[in-house]
Amino acid sequence: SRRRLFAAGGAAAVGVAGTAVAGGLVGRATASEHPTPATESLLVPFHGEHQAGVATRPQTHAVVAAYTLRGGATLEAAGRMMRLVTDDARRLTAATPALNDQEPALAQIPARLTVTVGFGSGLFSKLGLTDEQPAGLIDLPAFRIDRLQPAWSGGDLILQVCADDPLVVAHALRQLTKTLRTFTTGRWVQRGFTQTTAQLDGAGAGRNLMGQVDGTANPGPDTPDFAPLVWAGGPGWFSGGTTMVVRRIAMQLDTWDELDTAGKEIAVGRRLHNGAPLTGSLETDEPDFTVTDTTGLPVIPAFAHIARARHTNDTERFLRRAYNYDDGLTDSGLIFTTFQADIARQYLPVQQRLADNDLMNEWTTPIGSATFALPPGCSPDGYLGEGLLP
Ligand code: HEM
Repeated sequence: SRRRLFAAGGAAAVGVAGTAVAGGLVGRATASEHPTPATESLLVPFHGEHQAGVATRPQTHAVVAAYTLRGGATLEAAGRMMRLVTDDARRLTAATPALNDQEPALAQIPARLTVTVGFGSGLFSKLGLTDEQPAGLIDLPAFRIDRLQPAWSGGDLILQVCADDPLVVAHALRQLTKTLRTFTTGRWVQRGFTQTTAQLDGAGAGRNLMGQVDGTANPGPDTPDFAPLVWAGGPGWFSGGTTMVVRRIAMQLDTWDELDTAGKEIAVGRRLHNGAPLTGSLETDEPDFTVTDTTGLPVIPAFAHIARARHTNDTERFLRRAYNYDDGLTDSGLIFTTFQADIARQYLPVQQRLADNDLMNEWTTPIGSATFALPPGCSPDGYLGEGLLP
């Protein structure tokens, strides 16, 4: 890995294993540039206009953890909490130990660690800040398909911790949870994974546990559409922030296995072997929903997942950044995570269409749901949420 560090960023990058977070190093590769795996740094800059972990190319391991604010939480305490969390995140993402880090060796492994923090609607109401809750953040209504469990739902505060090494993720989460202990109690935690870069190199989006290529039709961070879709505009403390939807969606893989390949492809509207739409031959081909077969029926049925999920106008788009999960012998699925400037405007209409009718509902069940407002990023002498919390 030392060799990779030199190749990736020169001598400065090696310094991170023990020391500086200096501007030069942090400034090298920005997440939004979406550098290719061969050239990108093993450190994702923590500071900037936006939080890392959103536009960042998905790391192979993730944990999302939600917390409940302790009773009697004050604004002043919440501000202190965010200064401490920011300090931990700033150090850990630079591959340096947090203050009072009991396992410094685990902090010194550069693995593209990102720590992303968000606030649920409960935080705003408990702190008397409902007037400051961003318009883009709503609690989702109940959907017909939902079988939500409290064990996977809600939360006043969320941490999304991602890295290419599961040990780094586990250590960072433990350190941050220790810091949060005075202010919060743990509510739920979900661990997920994607395919490794080596297996994916140049092959497009990764696969989910149904075997589908998942993540193809997604706004790319290097496209002009991305910023207005994902980042909230100004004025106010939330400018440069985003909202996050986390849905835990279980897959019924036993009954999915009973389907033949043609049935599986019809359910989503794309081919299993390479993710191409049923009307095309490459993953990147645009689906054509007007094409019919010899019997006059649409090649991509109207109730196929991509037919229902496709935006009907440009405001209905958002970033999907999902992770697979596989817990125990029978609980597998997606930690389905999206980022958008405004949940009601962008996410809700699509989710409502899918809840009303989507062939994939036969084999998938939402069992958890939560939404959060992610404050903008901060500077080296600032802290996350600084415009909201004193
Ligand atoms: C597309 C799988 C849930 C929104 C896709 C694709 C797959 C897939 C395989 C096609 C490839 C791609 O473009 O990524 C799944 C699975 C789900 C799930 C397995 C649940 C376990 C959802 C949910 C939403 C959603 C809950 C939104 C509320 C979308 C969108 C597209 C898409 C917007 C792109 C449609 C297009 O424009 O072509 N999904 N999905 N999916 N999915 Fe899902």
